[in-house]
Amino acid sequence: MQWLRIRSVESLGGGEHSSLKRTLGAVDLTLLGIGCIIGTGVFVLTGVAAARYAGPGLMLSFALAGLACAFAALVYAELAAMVPVSGSAYTYSYATMGEAVAWIVGWNLVLEYAVSAGAVAAGWSGYFTGILGQLGVVLPAAITNVPAEGGVMDVPATAIALLVTGLLVNGVRHGARVNAALVFVKLFAILLFLALAGPKVDADLWTPFAPFGWQGIATGAAIIFFAYIGFDAVATAAEETRDPQRNLPIGIIASLLICTAIYLTVAAVLTGVAPYTSLDVKEPVAFALRLIGYDFGAAVVAAGALAGITTVLLVLIFAQARIFFVMARDGLLPTFLSRINAAHGTPQIATLLTGIGVAGVAGFLPLGAIAELSNIGTLFAFVAVSLGVMILRRARPDIVRPFRTPVLWFVGPAAVASCGYLMISLPATTWVRFGIWSVIGAIVYAAYGYRRSPLRRDLAAPTPESAAGSPSA
Ligand code: ALA
Repeated sequence: MQWLRIRSVESLGGGEHSSLKRTLGAVDLTLLGIGCIIGTGVFVLTGVAAARYAGPGLMLSFALAGLACAFAALVYAELAAMVPVSGSAYTYSYATMGEAVAWIVGWNLVLEYAVSAGAVAAGWSGYFTGILGQLGVVLPAAITNVPAEGGVMDVPATAIALLVTGLLVNGVRHGARVNAALVFVKLFAILLFLALAGPKVDADLWTPFAPFGWQGIATGAAIIFFAYIGFDAVATAAEETRDPQRNLPIGIIASLLICTAIYLTVAAVLTGVAPYTSLDVKEPVAFALRLIGYDFGAAVVAAGALAGITTVLLVLIFAQARIFFVMARDGLLPTFLSRINAAHGTPQIATLLTGIGVAGVAGFLPLGAIAELSNIGTLFAFVAVSLGVMILRRARPDIVRPFRTPVLWFVGPAAVASCGYLMISLPATTWVRFGIWSVIGAIVYAAYGYRRSPLRRDLAAPTPESAAGSPSA
């Protein structure tokens, strides 16, 4: 039963013990959220999801996925405020459901961060290649397509992943100002698209609205869920937020609402100017603008998309490296991943290996498949966190909660149900890949983490320190 061992919330730090400075207000959090959220999902996956699954009903898909995220985000925020340490859902699960569940969640966060970073880089490549094409530079298909698409390797996707990794390894962070500027660039690109294409909408193209029925809309929602990944970053800023009980839900809900409104409008306009069947392309937003005669506008929007997607990539690789770092510090992954570079104060090895992995995924695997895999892993983590919050409310009502999920006994089950529903709406092949990924994870845990975890050693021979700060259950 050692795999059920739990770390006490107190041993993780944070909560009332946090020494972080509370500087962020509701507007900062909203910008932070938008900065992490808008990227490849809306700029690329809208096209695939409309063409293959949802048709113009993609608008409903976005609403459905947004609702699931809102429930999950409110629950997430309670744990994030209570356990505001690096490691995100992995750490929260360690404190609530035990080491084995924490490992599974951490393993699935690799899907949320590293694998989705691969998909984001692949999306970047689509827009980059499109811009070059408009400038008359046509790269050979062999170096812009992955093997499943008939190419050899997506070189631009690999290159941007390695470039961003290089920046992160050298200690580059982007602060609130850069984030705000990039949010503006992204929003400008989207608003320009809406301003140019909006007046050209032909409502006839919205019929049939749901060519693949409700199932198509649900699967579409499960796929474009990807477009919302990143909102949990808002929750992780809980301890740096002024008056989190007020500002955190505002920041989370506002960024989700703004993104949902943007996404719904983009879906409506996109499927209103281009037949949904034509949208299965690598840069659908620019493609639609070219279709209605705005070549220059398409190039400007594509440039904005590139900048916006790059920042999402930066955040995802950054976050994955921290999660590896924390898991290694906990003994569940090899210790060299927790090494901090003295000059930059960053987990350099974890960052470098993450970046190389992301570059490999981006260079060789098809975007659609990796985005779906990333979604299922993220949804799984959200379900686990939602269960964890409810468990902890019952098991440890005494812990100080800087933020309490409103009406938890409705919002919690709603988060589990809606995220679970999106999971089961994903294609069967995604479940198979998820199953394989989970089995590999279980083997790695059994062969390494289970044996190496310091908690195991503590339980065998408790030290005075470990006895003071450990297992609460
Ligand atoms: N939500 C992020 C994107 O769409 C991951 O790129």
